[in-house]
Formats: sequence, C-alpha cells, structure tokens
Amino acid sequence: MSFDLEQNIRLNEINEILESYLPKEEGYYKSVLSAMNYSITAGGKRIRPMLMLETFRLFNGCHIEILHPFMAAIEMIHTYSLVHDDLPALDNDEYRRGRKTTHIEYGEALAILAGDGLLTLAFETAAGAYDKVDETSKDALNLYRRIMRAYKVLSRKAGIHGMIGGQVIDIEFVGKAVTKERLDRMYLLKTGALIEASMMIGAILAGAKDNELDIIENLAGDLGLAFQIRDDILDVISSDKILGKPVRSDEKNDKPTYVSLMDLEQAKKEVAHVTDRAKKAYESLAYRNEYLIELIIKLINREK
Ligand code: IPE
Ligand code: IPE
Ligand code: MG
Ligand code: MG
Ligand code: MG
Repeated sequence: MSFDLEQNIRLNEINEILESYLPKEEGYYKSVLSAMNYSITAGGKRIRPMLMLETFRLFNGCHIEILHPFMAAIEMIHTYSLVHDDLPALDNDEYRRGRKTTHIEYGEALAILAGDGLLTLAFETAAGAYDKVDETSKDALNLYRRIMRAYKVLSRKAGIHGMIGGQVIDIEFVGKAVTKERLDRMYLLKTGALIEASMMIGAILAGAKDNELDIIENLAGDLGLAFQIRDDILDVISSDKILGKPVRSDEKNDKPTYVSLMDLEQAKKEVAHVTDRAKKAYESLAYRNEYLIELIIKLINREK
C-alpha cells in the first residue's frame, strides 16, 4: 500500500477516535460546544495523535485502549492553542483550517471560552484512560503508573514551561531582532513541546525505558523545531488556499522568524540539518517503525 493511502486510512481512524470524545451540541451552553466542535472538526493534519500512535507502535505497545484518550486529548490541546493563537490579541488571523477562525464565526468571547473548554476537556478525556484499565489484571498497577506519568508530561508540555511559555516569548519578540539561539528556544517551546508530549506519551504508555524516553524527547524537539521552521517558510512561499490559513501572517505581525533572520535557501538547509539530527536519534534506538520515519520526512517537507 502506498504511504499516502495508508496515511489516509490512519487519518480516518484518528478522526473517528477524536469524534467519539467530542461533546454533543445540546443544552443551555450549546453555543460553546458548537464553537469547540467547529474548530476541531475543521480538519487539520492530526500529526500529533498520529505521532503518538506511531511512537506507541515503535515500542511495541499493547493496550491501545489507554492510548486513545490521550490521542484525542493532545489534538484538543493543539486545537485550543490555535483558537487562542488566532485571536486579535495574539496573531489576529481570520482564516484557519480552511474556515473562518472561531472568533470570526462565534465572536471573541466564545472563542476564548471554546479554547478553555477544549483545554479542560482534554484533561478530563485523558483521565478517562484510567477507567479503561482492567483492575483485576496483573498489569493493572503498571498501567496506572504509566497513565499517571503520561498525564504529567501532558500537563507540563502544554503549560507555562511548554507551549504557553513559547507563546509568551513569541509575543514578546514582536518587532525585535533576535538571534537564532533565541528563536530556537522559542520554537522548542511553542511548537516543540506538544510534539514532544505526543511522542513521549506514546513511548510512556508503551512502556519505553527512561533512556529511550530521553532519546524520544530530543528527537521530538528537533522534529518540532524543523516543523516550525517549515511553517515559517510556508508562511512566505505558499498560498491561503493551500495552507487553509493566511500567508504572510508573520510579516504582518512583525514576528522574527527563520525567514526574517536568513534567506529561504538557508532556512531550508536548517530544516534539513535539524531533521538529520532527528534521524540519527531514531537510528540510535533498538526499535524500528518504517512508517514513523517516513511520516517524519513527509512532515518536514510538507506543502501545507
Ligand atoms: C500549526 O500546526 C501550528 C504550528 C505549530 C506550526 P499544524 O500545522 O499541525 O496545524 P493543523 O493541525 O494541521 O491545522
Ligand atoms: C504556532 O505558531 C503556534 C502555536 C503554538 C499555537 P504560529 O503562530 O506560527 O502558527 P500558525 O502559523 O498560526 O499556525
Ligand atoms: Mg502565533
Ligand atoms: Mg499564528
Ligand atoms: Mg506560522
């Protein structure tokens, strides 16, 4: 089967899992539930749950039922980060995943609350992994421990020392000339952290060892960095139609990026260099998942 066909099948599986955790649009506060579903069902590449699943497979994980809630949770957190990232107070963008952004469609107040709703639902959903463990099985204690550890990683990487911290640095860098080292630190947090969480949670729930987890964290950080540099490049070379979000957003907001720091060709070389480091990390592991490595290469060379 071709890689693209396989990716499509997996994308559909992920969407089904995700949809099973989304709220029903009913009751007195139906408006916020519908705003949450509006942003999350708009589509998106779903790369974070995909990476989580493939890292779980890399380490030959069993009990996939405990992974599913975390797959849904990471996509909820990512989607909330986008809803808030697009708000007038942040990037002020009006188009996302091929639709009007949530605040344009529902107004700013509901967009803020829908983001809050997705974030908190994510933790409620992930906690549900606990209920999927058969408490009479001999693995139960082990699985509970893995779930708790995964939960901590999710909280840490989504929070102030992870994605949120990165977003704060992002807004504070506006209009400033910054060094590549500083940009890397920002990217590692604002984009790297959720990719690290995705791959680390897949590894933890599959039972990877501590040293393997360290390798995964570094590999995922590099992947996040390369992914964000590619995002900067696409912001300049692509179109609204292909990306489903407005191009030239960084220039509009006077954001320092790899493309403002160096020319396009140099930025592409940086992507290749960081990707190479990630590939070497993968090769140092004793496990193989050909699909995972192909997915990583595709993501870094993506057109959208
Ligand atoms: C967009 O993430 C924000 C960045 C971290 C660059 P994605 O490119 O994964 O967005 P979706 O989920 O496919 O819409
Ligand atoms: C990634 O940065 C943001 C998040 C952590 C949400 P960008 O601001 O570049 O993402 P896009 O380009 O709007 O998707
Ligand atoms: Mg932003
Ligand atoms: Mg943005
Ligand atoms: Mg961008």
